Amino acid sequence: MAIRQIIHAPNTILSTPSESVTNPLDASVTRLIADMKDTVIALNGLGLAAPQVGAPFRVIVINHNGKPFAVINPIIKWSSEGTSILEEGCLSVPNYFVKIARPNKIIISGINEKGEAFETKAKDLLAKIFQHETDHTNGILISDYGEKRILL
Ligand code: CO
Repeated sequence: MAIRQIIHAPNTILSTPSESVTNPLDASVTRLIADMKDTVIALNGLGLAAPQVGAPFRVIVINHNGKPFAVINPIIKWSSEGTSILEEGCLSVPNYFVKIARPNKIIISGINEKGEAFETKAKDLLAKIFQHETDHTNGILISDYGEKRILL
């Protein structure tokens, strides 16, 4: 377990779609997830995606309620028509915040840390975190949503 260094934009690893994980229980995936949890806790982030720590794989960690969990190969299967706006930041895009309209409710599918396929509903902030982190696995950053720049 270790805290990994965060890759900052611009960097091609952040703008390139990640590879799907073929063996979710591989030791390298387990280690990556453990390190991502350590890192998101240390940096007080709401979530983290593997490309942000230099690993080009479809793995995200969500740190919504203080107990981080991973989703491997996340897919947004359904999203509501209703959207709301949240000002988002990103550990990979320091000092940049942008208001992004995203669906309020989603259904996400993926594989958990035990290697089991699952599907879950999410709404409000948790739904936004899932979407933000899944965006990372598709090579999309918050800076792709707008040019508005608010410096701290
Ligand atoms: Co981010």
